[in-house]
Amino acid sequence: MIVGEWVVVARVEEIPPGHAARVEIGEIPVAIFNVDGELHCVDDTCTHEEASLSDGDLDVDRCVIECPLHGSAFDLRTGEAITLPAVEPVRVHRIEVAGGEIRVALSE
Ligand code: FES
Repeated sequence: MIVGEWVVVARVEEIPPGHAARVEIGEIPVAIFNVDGELHCVDDTCTHEEASLSDGDLDVDRCVIECPLHGSAFDLRTGEAITLPAVEPVRVHRIEVAGGEIRVALSE
C-alpha cells in the first residue's frame, strides 16, 4: 500500500457535485464524494459488512454517506459512524485538486 503518497485518481469533471466514485489505490478501494464542490475521500468498504459506500445515498446537507446495505450513516469529514449498525469509523484520506486532477493520499 502507498500510504501518504499523492496518487492521481480522476479528473475533476469526472465527479460532479452530488456524485461519488469508487477507485482503487493499490488494492485499497476508496470512495470519493463531491459535496457541493468540496471533495471528500473515505474507505469504500463499510465497517459493518461488505458494502460499497460509493453506492450509498449521499446527504449533501449533512455531509454524510448512508450505507446501501443496512443504512449506517458516516460523517465524511471525520469518518465517524453516526448511526447503527456500524460502530467503527471509516478512514478518512487526504484529497486535493491539482491541475484539474483529483489526488488522494491514503491514511494509515
Ligand atoms: S454493511 Fe454497511 S451498515 Fe451494514
